[in-house]
Amino acid sequence: MGLHENGKFYVPVKDEEYIAPFGPVMGYRKLSSEFIKKMNTLMKTELEDFSDNLVGKVKHELKFSKDIENLWLREVSQFIGRFHSYSEHRNSFGARSLDTNKYDYGIKVVSGWFVRQFENEYNPLHIHTGAAMSCVGYLGLPDGIEKEWEEDYKDHHPANGHIQFAHGTTSGYNNTNFMVKPQVGDFYIFPSELFHCVYPFKTKGERRSFSVNFSFLEIPKNKDKKNVDK
Ligand SMILES: [Fe+2]
Repeated sequence: MGLHENGKFYVPVKDEEYIAPFGPVMGYRKLSSEFIKKMNTLMKTELEDFSDNLVGKVKHELKFSKDIENLWLREVSQFIGRFHSYSEHRNSFGARSLDTNKYDYGIKVVSGWFVRQFENEYNPLHIHTGAAMSCVGYLGLPDGIEKEWEEDYKDHHPANGHIQFAHGTTSGYNNTNFMVKPQVGDFYIFPSELFHCVYPFKTKGERRSFSVNFSFLEIPKNKDKKNVDK
């Protein structure tokens, strides 16, 4: 795929192409085992209760400290940069990409928190506000949940303890639902206004995850210099 030289519209490059020009882009990355271990150590019930800011019908939602925010940034910031590069490329049919000669890039964390979800709890359909991007990463699952899933997967619509993303209106050759099985170490990023919910499960124990609301910053280089020149 490509873009016309005026940069305004799509022109095919190969004899045959399949194109997905619409819809939100999401990213996935496997978290390191060191990071998962550290996060589980740092999750303490003494952390500030963040549940009044959130819709989850769950036991605990605990706010990240500055140290935890920084740990998260060290783990995923390069990946977030690559995600933005991909997204720019997809949304412009290859015409745009990140340009480190012209811009400095950074990540602004707005808020981060742990989610401790136990049996029969759930997180209703919602979006995140206050930042452009959000994410979810998985730190723990109840022992024996695989058995529950084995049973659930016999059903025509498995969902127990899964997160579901939804976007747009059903139409031909379109996809409006995206169901994801939580697995320890899996990390997803998505635009904050993408609807999602988490279904309840029955197995006794804790399903532990975290979320961070953040924005990717693009700052023109030499901006200050120009101002000085004036
Ligand atoms: Fe959420």
